[in-house]
Amino acid sequence: MIRSANDTFLRACFREPTPHTPVWLMRQAGRYLPEYRRVREQAGDFLGLCQDPDLAAQVTVQPVDRLGLDAAILFSDILTIPDAMDCGLRFVEGQGPVLDRPIRSPGDVERLPIPDPGAELRYVPDAVAASRRALDNRVPLIGFAGSPWTLATYMVEGGSSKTFGTIKRLALEDPDTLHGLLDKLTRAVIAYLNAQIEAGAQAVQVFDTWGGVLASRAFRELDLPYLRRVISGLRTTWDGTRVPKILFTKGGNGWLEDLADTGVEVVGLDWQTEPRQAGRRIGDRVALQGNLDPAVLYGPPERIEGEVARLLDDFGSAPGHVFNLGHGVHPDTPPEHVEALVEAVHRLSSRQ
Ligand code: CP3
Repeated sequence: MIRSANDTFLRACFREPTPHTPVWLMRQAGRYLPEYRRVREQAGDFLGLCQDPDLAAQVTVQPVDRLGLDAAILFSDILTIPDAMDCGLRFVEGQGPVLDRPIRSPGDVERLPIPDPGAELRYVPDAVAASRRALDNRVPLIGFAGSPWTLATYMVEGGSSKTFGTIKRLALEDPDTLHGLLDKLTRAVIAYLNAQIEAGAQAVQVFDTWGGVLASRAFRELDLPYLRRVISGLRTTWDGTRVPKILFTKGGNGWLEDLADTGVEVVGLDWQTEPRQAGRRIGDRVALQGNLDPAVLYGPPERIEGEVARLLDDFGSAPGHVFNLGHGVHPDTPPEHVEALVEAVHRLSSRQ
C-alpha cells in the first residue's frame, strides 16, 4: 500500500479531517499554461499528446509543480472512448471535437466495438502509470471518464451541440437504439475506469457534463440509471486502499439527492448550486466538491481572495469539502490568478 505524502484530498473525499481544505481544478492542465502550450506543440496535436504516455505525464504534473495543488488529474480526454469506438474523432481549431461517423441507427450501434483498455486504449493506463511515476507520491492522481449520456451526445450529434436536437429526436423516435448505445457505453466506461484504477489512479471522477440539458424525466430515463450502473461497476479498493468516486453533473442542482444516492463518495457542484443548500441536502452522506465560477479567475487577485473566503465560509469547516471550480479553467485565464487562488485556499482554510 502506497500513500501520497499529501493525502488531504483523499481524506476530504472520505470526510476525514484535514489540516487545510484540499484544492484541485477541473482543466488544471491546459492552454492557459505556457508550459502546456510548449509540450502540445512538441506532440503535434492534442490527441497525439493524449496518446503519448510520457508527454501526457509531463503535462499532468505541470500544474502541480506550478500551483502546489493537492491532487493531479490525468491528462487525457473523455472522447478517447468514442475515438477507440472508431467514430472518426478530430479536433478542429475553433470548432472543438468533430466525429465523422456519428451513431444514429440500430446498425450503427450494433457495429460499435467495446474498446479494450488493454489494447486500443492501452495508452490511457500507460499514461496513468507514467503520471504516477512522475508524481512520485507527492499528491494522489485522479482518473476520469465521461458519463454514458455525455459521451452519447458527442457520438449522436457528431460533435458539440447547442440544442442537442439530434440526440433528443433519437430519444423520441427510436429510444431502443439510444438505450443500446448507452448500454454499450456503460460497459466501456466501467472497463476503462477500472483499468485506470488498476494502473494506479487513486480516485476517479465521472464527468456528466451534459446531464443538465435533460428535462427531469429524461434525466431519470437516459442518464441516472447508467450513472448508477457505472458507479456500482467500479472497484472500491485497489492495492489495499479505498478508491473514492466523484460524480460531477453540470446543471445537476435539481437532482443532488439522486446523485448522492448513486454510491459515490463525492458529488461535484457546478457554480449555480448553493453550497449551504447542498450541504443541508446531501452533506451528511457525501463530500462536496466545488464550486467557484471559473470566470472569477478573470478578476484581480484581491477579488479572487474575497470569493475564496466567502466560498470557504459557505461550505463550512466540517470535514468533506474539496475546493474546485464549478467547471473547467477557461483557456484565457491568467496563470498568476490561478496561483493566487490556490494560495488563498490554503492560507484561508489552514486549521493549524
Ligand atoms: O482537467 C484536466 O486538466 C484534465 C484534462 C481534461 C481534458 N478534457 C483536456 C482537454 C479533462 C478532464 C477533459 C474532459 C472533457 N473533454 C470533458 C468533460 C469536462 C468538461 O469540460 O465538461 C469534455 C466535454 C471534453 C470534450 C472536449 N475535449 C472538448 C469540448 C474540448 C474543447 C475543444 C476546444 O478546442 O476547446 C476538448 C479538448 C481538450 N481537452 C483540451 C484540453 C486541454 C484543449 C485541447 C487543446 O487545444 O490543447
